[in-house]
Amino acid sequence: MKRALIIGSSGLLGSAIAQLLKTNYEVIEASRSSQSHPVDIADVASLQSLMQRVGKVDAIVCTAGVAQFRGFSDATNADWDFGLANKLMGQVNTVRLGAEHIHPMGSITLTTGVLSMYPMPGSSIVTTVNAAVEGFVKSAALELKDKVRVNAVSPGWITETLEKMKMDTSPGLPAAEVAQAYLELMESDITGQVQIAMKS
Ligand SMILES: NC(=O)c1ccc[n+]([C@@H]2O[C@H](COP(=O)([O-])OP(=O)(O)OC[C@H]3O[C@@H](n4cnc5c(N)ncnc54)[C@H](OP(=O)(O)O)[C@@H]3O)[C@@H](O)[C@H]2O)c1
Repeated sequence: MKRALIIGSSGLLGSAIAQLLKTNYEVIEASRSSQSHPVDIADVASLQSLMQRVGKVDAIVCTAGVAQFRGFSDATNADWDFGLANKLMGQVNTVRLGAEHIHPMGSITLTTGVLSMYPMPGSSIVTTVNAAVEGFVKSAALELKDKVRVNAVSPGWITETLEKMKMDTSPGLPAAEVAQAYLELMESDITGQVQIAMKS
């Protein structure tokens, strides 16, 4: 059976992906609070230790990594540093370290978000981080093309998040449907692609 490591599996999207993959994959679930596979992707040593413990896999999916919503004038140096260390460098290092732990032509799929293309007030950190991850995916895929496939899913609003925020759910796509975009990238021969997953 193929093996897939999901980093961020305790979250909304990560748990939906884990659920979807379980039929055909041995799923290894990791997150900050995981009992079996704890990891902090902002900490290179922690990521390295996770990869070594887990061993070779066919796929890595990362839905982990946080960046803060802050008004432009309110965002502190610490807010910027946090987003860059977590959602950007955490995912960059997931590829840098993960590429050595993937079976040939396996896949690494990262997560961005459509705020990379459609910014809104308060999204400057998130927009910057998402756009940087997308640039990284396209660039890394070029150099890793004979070894590992690297892609990203860029979700729009997820229905369950809108529900939790007591917002209009009509622009949302359920997490289970967003999860399909990850599976499609994993099981294709695509590399260097940012797959948008939002309600049309
Ligand atoms: N939800 C949406 O509507 C939406 C829309 C567009 C884009 N996205 C993006 O999709 C991704 C997942 O969103 P989500 O709604 O599933 O988030 P979530 O429910 O908050 O889950 C986040 C997951 O990431 C883990 N995590 C966070 N920081 C980590 C770190 N430094 N090291 C290791 N694990 C870490 C959390 O682990 P613990 O719980 O163990 O701390 C949790 O498993 C995010 O990048 C988000 O920006 C979401």
